[in-house]
Amino acid sequence: MAEKTFYLTTPIYYPSDKLHIGHAYTTVAADALARFKRHQGYDVMFLTGTDEHGQKIERIAKEHGVTPIEYVDKIVAGIKDLWKILDISYDDFIRTTEERHVKAVQTIFQRLYDRGDIYKAEYSGWYCVPCETFWTERQAGTEHICPDCGRPVELVKEESYFFRLSKYADRWLKFIEENPDFIQPPSRRNEMVSFVKQGLEDLCVSRTTFDWGIPVPWDPKHVIYVWIDALSNYITALGYASEDESKFHRYWPADLHLVGKEIVRFHTIIWPMMLMALDLPLPKKVFGHGWLVLEGGKMSKSKGNVVDPVILVDKYGVDAIRYFLLREIPFGADGSYSEEALVKRINSDLANDLGNLLYRTLTMMEKYFGGRVPAPASPDEGPDADLKRVAQEACANAEAAMDRLEISAALEAIWELVKRANKYIDEVAPWSLAREKKNERLGAVMYNLAETLRIVAVMLVPYLTRAPQAIWEQLGLAGSPADVGWQAARQWGLLTPGTQTRRGAPLFPRIEVKKEEKNEVSEEVKAPAEEKISIEQFAQVELKVAEVLAAERVPKSKKLIRLEIALGDERRQILAGIGRSYTPEELVGKKIVVVANLKPAKLMGYESNGMLLAASFPGEGEEEHISLLTVDRDIKSGARIR
Ligand code: ME8
Ligand code: MG
Repeated sequence: MAEKTFYLTTPIYYPSDKLHIGHAYTTVAADALARFKRHQGYDVMFLTGTDEHGQKIERIAKEHGVTPIEYVDKIVAGIKDLWKILDISYDDFIRTTEERHVKAVQTIFQRLYDRGDIYKAEYSGWYCVPCETFWTERQAGTEHICPDCGRPVELVKEESYFFRLSKYADRWLKFIEENPDFIQPPSRRNEMVSFVKQGLEDLCVSRTTFDWGIPVPWDPKHVIYVWIDALSNYITALGYASEDESKFHRYWPADLHLVGKEIVRFHTIIWPMMLMALDLPLPKKVFGHGWLVLEGGKMSKSKGNVVDPVILVDKYGVDAIRYFLLREIPFGADGSYSEEALVKRINSDLANDLGNLLYRTLTMMEKYFGGRVPAPASPDEGPDADLKRVAQEACANAEAAMDRLEISAALEAIWELVKRANKYIDEVAPWSLAREKKNERLGAVMYNLAETLRIVAVMLVPYLTRAPQAIWEQLGLAGSPADVGWQAARQWGLLTPGTQTRRGAPLFPRIEVKKEEKNEVSEEVKAPAEEKISIEQFAQVELKVAEVLAAERVPKSKKLIRLEIALGDERRQILAGIGRSYTPEELVGKKIVVVANLKPAKLMGYESNGMLLAASFPGEGEEEHISLLTVDRDIKSGARIR
């Protein structure tokens, strides 16, 4: 087992059947951090799960005519499917309805009660059902609306248990002072400090008005209300207060709780105070990230923009969605989502920068060296030395950015190298070296490019789950870039000369955007100029043998000839710009090749229903050498060419 451990959590999600791309954000970010730490050699514990109790679930289940557990079972299955689709590498998934959680939460509640931190009293307050949050008279205001979501709150009066938050305020302030990095980013810390300094009211931690929750062990008409239940998941998943606490001892305190900014307050105030009351160490860090919002407003489906992550992954692939989520938003800030922005990222960063670098490199490797990686050269100077320097910088910068939890900046650092390598190709112009037969120099250049790609593949392991392996295999390397570990990116020159590369399909096909239909994106794939097309793409072109029945010049045109052709029984008219090289007379009777399924076009008032094939080679001035394609044996017109 690895020496160093890293315990990382996401919030546990409310079961919702409408998970949108914003929900995927926290979990994809956590997954990237978990994979990064594993890549660095840590023994990682990455926890996620679902937060399944509460009045809201009880109500919705009733509306559906099912029991709460039937309702949540189905939704949780869907959430697990989504994480699978997004390649989320969690080590454990905790459900608050599981026995291991329920029993431990009851023990926690009992311990807090036994030491006098939980007491019973009459409660009166304003409750927001969707947010599951109580507000004071002052917070709810005269209009009695929820300060968080703006929806109406309900007046609730009942006997409740309370947790003595107020008792821990001073200890908390001292802790924050001594651990200024505990709450990240710092702006959120300042918010929390002023919140606590305003004075804390004790927290209502039980309810009697609904049943869907964990019963208070000695007073079962009360159920434990949301936050003590939910927050405890971070330790109950490790077996805290169970017979086997080995995981708890190994991984607690957590290295990082990753949460959305709206729940920072619960994670940085209530949770540490609960832990203080339990005499447990506090987590090392809570990071509050921003929201992914639809341009101009809240994330919603009504704007015609697809926000369902399942549909998006199906359409663009898991790597593209992961890349967008991790790259688009500086971690911590809010960011906006649109399908247009997503497609832009795919086309520029993935198809153009990364995909082309691999494709260009391996195409040249095949052309110049039969795909075998040549020997590197020393000494390094000029652009070679610069490329190597940028590679080492990219690695150091990406690592430093990840340590600051700036995932987007880490990707930016990696793309510095990708872009530098593309520029390197243009600078050293391998094709010129080939023409000038500077073979040794060409070899060194090709080695540098392949080595860069090896390093990029290793560095991309935490973020993309498919492309790094694909790059690895196309480079002809065995195993996987995840196996070699992050340190394999730090070292230049690990690629063995003689490795046989295997160029494959383009990593990220360009997404074509139809201009007329804004926001509507087609999946049509356009192959870049030097790329190969599939047999299916070629099969879309219908080539046939045609016999020229008649031909005449189009009046007032030097080039255009109107041809009447036969395709089997079918007669057609086509126009061809071959009048400088052929006379109408010599065309009649020829068996030529035409594209038969071309959309009709109008040329100088004549409709052309197809196009003939001819080879052309530019000559001097206006002169052009044209030669028609014909068939070399007698074959009936209409014959299909394939
Ligand atoms: O809050 N952009 O669960 P939840 C970014 N059960 N992040 C978003 C988002 C968006 N548009 N929408 C949701 C809960 N999230 C509690 C947590 S923890 C002990 C209990 C994030 O399902 C949100 O910020 O409402 C949060 O981090 C996560 O999704 C789960 O939210
Ligand atoms: Mg929420």
